[in-house]
Amino acid sequence: MKKTIVIYYSNKGSNKYLAEKISKSLSCELEKIRPRLNIFLLFLMNIHLGIKPLKHEIQEYDKVILCGPIWMGKFIPPLRSFIKRYFYKINKLIFVTCCGSTDAKKDEKFGHGLVFKEVENMLNDKCILCQAFPVGLVLPDDKKEDTDAFMKTHLNDENFKGEIQERFDNFIQKVSEM
Ligand SMILES: Cc1cc2nc3c(=O)[nH]c(=O)nc-3n(C[C@H](O)[C@H](O)[C@H](O)COP(=O)(O)O)c2cc1C
Repeated sequence: MKKTIVIYYSNKGSNKYLAEKISKSLSCELEKIRPRLNIFLLFLMNIHLGIKPLKHEIQEYDKVILCGPIWMGKFIPPLRSFIKRYFYKINKLIFVTCCGSTDAKKDEKFGHGLVFKEVENMLNDKCILCQAFPVGLVLPDDKKEDTDAFMKTHLNDENFKGEIQERFDNFIQKVSEM
C-alpha cells in the first residue's frame, strides 16, 4: 500500500501552497478536488453539486491528508463532498487547514476547533489528526487578530517562515512517524 496522498481544495491559494509544501516534504502524491460547480458564492449558501472523480485510487493509500479552508465556521462543501464520496475508501485521514481563526479563538463560532470536531465526528476513528495553520502566524503581532489583514494575506515563500515554519516542521515530523 502507498503511504500518503494529499488532497486539497483552495480558492485563494493558501491551502494550495500548503498542500504542495506537504506533498513535497513527504514526497507523496497530490491531487486537487474539482467541484462540479466551482462557484464560491453558492458554496457559501451551501449549494453544491458534488465533486468530479479523483484520478488517484484513494483506497490504495494508507493516509489521506485533506487540506482546505474554513468559511463561516463551516467544513466547506468541496471537502465535505470528498468525504461523502470516498468515505469507504479512506483508510486514515488527517485534516489540515490554513484558516483565519487563531488558536486562541479556535472554539468560538468561526473557529477551526469546531470544524475539527465535525470532521472527527464524520470520520470517527479514521480521523487521526487535525492541524491548523492560521494565517495570523505569518502576520506581525499587532495584525494577528485583524480580520482585514488576514483576509488579504496568502501563504507564499516570502512569508512562510518563523512560527509557521516551525509548526509545519513539527507537523511533518509527526505525520512521518504515524
Ligand atoms: C467568506 C470567507 C469566510 C471565512 N470564514 C472563516 C471562518 O469562519 N473561520 C476561519 O478560520 N477562517 C475563515 N476564513 C478565512 C479563510 O479560511 C482563509 O482566508 C483561508 O486561508 C483561505 O484559503 P485559500 O487561500 O486556500 O482559499 C474565511 C474566508 C472567507 C473568504
